[in-house]
This record gives sequence, structure tokens and C-alpha cells, in this order.
Amino acid sequence: MKVTVVGAGNVGATCANVLAHRDFLQEVVLLDIKEGTAEGKSLDSWQQAPIDYYSTKVTGITNDYSKTADSDVVVITSGLPRKPGMSRDDLISTNANIVKSVTESIAQYSPHAVIIVVSNPLDVMTYCAYLAAKKDSKKVFGMAGILDTARYRAFLADEIGCSPKDIQAILMGGHGDTMVPLPRYTTVSGIPVTELITPDKLTAIIQRTKVGGGEIVNLLGTSAWYAPGAAAAQMVEAILKDEKRIFPCCAWLTGEYGFKDIYLGVPVVLGKNGIEKIIELQLNQEEKTLLNESALHVKEVMDVLDQMKRVNA
Ligand code: NAI
Ligand code: 2OP
Repeated sequence: MKVTVVGAGNVGATCANVLAHRDFLQEVVLLDIKEGTAEGKSLDSWQQAPIDYYSTKVTGITNDYSKTADSDVVVITSGLPRKPGMSRDDLISTNANIVKSVTESIAQYSPHAVIIVVSNPLDVMTYCAYLAAKKDSKKVFGMAGILDTARYRAFLADEIGCSPKDIQAILMGGHGDTMVPLPRYTTVSGIPVTELITPDKLTAIIQRTKVGGGEIVNLLGTSAWYAPGAAAAQMVEAILKDEKRIFPCCAWLTGEYGFKDIYLGVPVVLGKNGIEKIIELQLNQEEKTLLNESALHVKEVMDVLDQMKRVNA
């Protein structure tokens, strides 16, 4: 099994390194446009192998897509990250050009690959990759919900004083401040979260989750990478091991939840075919309203991309 990670920056290199640690792949290719970056990080990862005890070697490549040929899964992380004061949407024009050209090269050399998009603004970059890849939407989707849910779970674990391992949760909507954490679908080892935390504290955690990416950007001057890289690697593993895991992912909707022709975060089953199923929860009115608001925001940014395409056509 072969995986390519495009972009050997913070998120891409972390994703490749986590995959190497999982030790189930024959080949991981890490590709970057910047001379030497992917090669250097791959060499570093290989030198970690005797210490951490894995055999999966990451191969670093500068912009030569022939070396990515016949990948089973491709993770796209190439693009600019946020700086303090920027929203994810501010990245749209630069990253759209990068994601489009990368996806076209990937589609040429690995026509059957499942494509996982990480670059921001996530929902719209996933749409951009879908348009460029010209393949079944079940094989082109985005990583955001696992990260956003992980932030929510980590904050809850701190507040409740339990292990983050024991918190199960789902979160929907776009990867932005309008995302929709769902307390009704949040449990701590099967116990409804509302039995373990006051409503005020839960509301504060939901709010912190929505701006969780920005919190890190303000601390670091760039966006997060450990959790995002690990989240993308978890999706790769679920697909290649055909695990049928249920994760929130950015998926193309064709009527689910009343939405059509939009990429939005929803719970899905991930397996060898990519998205094997979109799960439709029985949302209540308040949850539907929040999801509608999030979808409206995503649609506005998708329209910006469509507009850019018309201008450049
Ligand atoms: P980074 O700046 O550390 O790495 C980006 C890499 O992409 C650089 O090494 C750069 O040389 C490379 N690159 C640029 N153009 C390229 C091209 N045409 N072909 C190949 N490589 C190219 O950025 P970082 O922190 O790794 O973030 C990457 C992207 O992921 C950003 O857009 C960021 O906003 C996004 N992100 C998304 C998250 C999510 O939840 N979906 C979470 C964290 C980051
Ligand atoms: C994050 O949520 C910026 O999307 C990036 O960390």
C-alpha cells in the first residue's frame, strides 16, 4: 500500500511521520515544491525508526509526481497556513491555485487514489480538489472534523478530569467558527456529557472549540500541526485497513441533511472505498438551525471560488 503526502510543511511532515510510526505501509512518499524540504524531513523520519521501532520508510521528493504513481491514498496539505489576524477564508486564492495544480498532477499519476484534503479554507479547498480530480466524490473529501472534535474532547477531558480517550463526540458543519459541536451526541464512556458538566461550562467549551484553531495561531504565529497531522493519518489508516470507522469528515452532499452540491462536515463511515456511507442524524430544530448557518457560510466561500474560476476562465 502506498500513500503520498503533498506538502512537507508542519502538517504534511507530521502526517507522514505518524503514518511511519503506525508501521503498516509499504511506502509513504512526501512531496514538496521547495527543494530539499521533503528529502530532509524524510531522512530525519527514517533516522527515528531505530529508536521508535518501525520499518516504514518515508521517501522525500521535490515536485516529481512520477514518484507518487499508483498511490492508494493522497493527502494534500500544500498551501499557506494562517497567520494571526487571518481567517481560514483569507487563504482562498493562493491555496486554490496550489490545490488545483497538485490535484491535477495526482489525478494524472494516481487515477484511482482516494484524496484527503487538509489545506485551508478546508471545505472550499476540498471542493476545489473535487473539481480538479474529476472523480467520484466518495473518493475526495476533507479532514477537519476529527481535529475539531479532538479539540472539543480534549477541553472536555480537562474540565471533567477524565481521560480524553473516554470522550466520544460528533461535530458537524464547516471548518470555521460556525462549526457545530453536538452536546446531545457527546458521551463520556456512555454517560451523557450533560450529567458531568454544568451548562455554562459546556457552552464555554463549545465556544472555545469553535475558535480552537485561532487560539493556537495566536500562540504560535502559525497554525497547529500535531493534531491535524495525526487526524489525517487516522483517516488514511481507516481507509487502507478498511476499518469502517465513523468520523466527522468534509463530504460532498447530494441531499443529505437537506443540502445539495456542497462540501460540509458530516459523520461518515470510512473504509476501503473512501466514504462508504454518510450518516444522517436526527437533528433537533436548534441543531438544524446552526448547521444551516454553517452551510450558508461555506456556500458563500464556495461561490467565491466559482467566481474566481469564471474570472480566470
Ligand atoms: P506549512 O507552511 O508548514 O507547509 C505547507 C507546505 O506546502 C510548505 O512546505 C510548502 O513549500 C508546500 N507547498 C506550497 N505549494 C506547494 C505546491 N504547489 N506543491 C507542493 N508543495 C507545496 O503549512 P502547514 O502548517 O503544514 O499547513 C498546511 C495547510 O493545512 C494550510 O493551508 C493550513 O491552513 C492547513 N491546515 C488545515 C487544517 C485542517 O484542519 N484542515 C489544520 C491545520 C492546517
Ligand atoms: C486549525 O484549525 C488552522 O485549520 C487550522 O488549526
